[in-house]
Amino acid sequence: MRELLAKRVGRRLASGPSSNTTIVYVVGARPNFVKMAPVVSEMRARAPELRHVLVHTGQHYDAEMSEIFFGELGLPKPDYLLGVGSGTHGVQTARALERLEGVLSELQPCAVVVPGDVNSTLAAALAAAKLGIPIAHLEAGLRSFDRSMPEELNRLLVDQLSRWCFIHSPEAAANLGREGIADERVQFVGNTMIDTLVRLRPRIGASSVHRDLALERRRYLLVTLHRPMLVDGPLLEQVMGALAEVARELPVVFPMHPRTRTRLARDPAAVRGLQVVHPVGYLDFLALEMFASGVLTDSGGVQEETTFLRVPCFTLRENTERPITITHGSNRLLGLQPQAITGIPGWLASSPTTLSVPHGWDGKASARVADVLLADLRAAADRPAPATESLALDAAP
Ligand code: UD1
Ligand code: UDP
Repeated sequence: MRELLAKRVGRRLASGPSSNTTIVYVVGARPNFVKMAPVVSEMRARAPELRHVLVHTGQHYDAEMSEIFFGELGLPKPDYLLGVGSGTHGVQTARALERLEGVLSELQPCAVVVPGDVNSTLAAALAAAKLGIPIAHLEAGLRSFDRSMPEELNRLLVDQLSRWCFIHSPEAAANLGREGIADERVQFVGNTMIDTLVRLRPRIGASSVHRDLALERRRYLLVTLHRPMLVDGPLLEQVMGALAEVARELPVVFPMHPRTRTRLARDPAAVRGLQVVHPVGYLDFLALEMFASGVLTDSGGVQEETTFLRVPCFTLRENTERPITITHGSNRLLGLQPQAITGIPGWLASSPTTLSVPHGWDGKASARVADVLLADLRAAADRPAPATESLALDAAP
């Protein structure tokens, strides 16, 4: 395996001035920015000899779903904006695949870094793998064991294609092992999304979101919901009814994802009694999370952030690919049961506070990613490039 990497990376690092020193980071959707920002920053600081190229597929494109994060998180302006936009899974993934293949063929990078589990992640991994470029996957090994979730398919496939599976929870190693992924491809680094939180937490004092929304700290329920199985069908109406009931005793603030907003556009009365606002930027959202009485969500990232912040979290799903947020953290699965929402004020009154933060969720995960990536890339570059080599697609990553 190491030999194969050495061949691929060594060839790339030794094959010419334009192609040998480039590393590509691919982002596309809101959670990607939060996971990738600290990695890009760490890698740029630690490896000035590499050319660091940021590619944004454009899966998310509204200013409040994309642009705002670049400024707040200190992500550099993307070098490539691919304008993929919305569409069915096939259309969105195919567009991203086609455009990423063009970029990667042109750049011939020594590695491609991809975060999480969105369609852009799969497209990037597929494009890179077909070109024989080693892939580093941030947040590898998470499994909901529910293949009706598009993200689960993306996770399974991206991990199979990745040379470096960077994990943040012990169960991820077991999941990858069961799928035949060799231990040497799996690296426990911790949680890069928490790096961003740790880094930006001191800046939330600058947020005026509580004042702007007239919210009293520790006296509101924060809500984010966007999974298709919840918001694209009849359950959404029941959710809104249950939230209206909660709002009679506890203010409910709901920064609404555009998918959810689109569904509710047909029924404006459904949001009565709730504070529904547009998605907010990272700093405002972090401030809302930190000072919420509790959070109702179906977001993956929000389950993790509330665990770190020790804020009670209620997840409106049947399962989670992040069980550590239940065993160690503040997360409670409600199932796909909108009626369960009405129990939240009661649970909040009695919620236990003996929670721990998972190992490696410490603000230093990106440094560990850079340790591994740079050591491997530099070691490969130091080895002599082989005289002949084919891009064997059937070889292990
Ligand atoms: C995607 C990810 C999901 C992730 C979520 C984070 C996949 C399969 N899903 O879901 O895993 O949790 O992002 O937020 O990749 N829209 C806009 N403006 C935008 C973006 C989207 O209006 O900037 C609307 C469009 O109507 C679009 C819909 O939202 O059709 C869904 O967007 P899409 O990126 O396809 O999926 P998400 O639901 O955002
Ligand atoms: N987030 C944000 N503004 C919002 C909602 C969420 O900045 O209005 C952040 C949140 O803090 C977390 C990330 O977006 O860092 C989670 O993204 P999302 O819920 O869209 O995706 P998921 O994690 O479910 O894939």
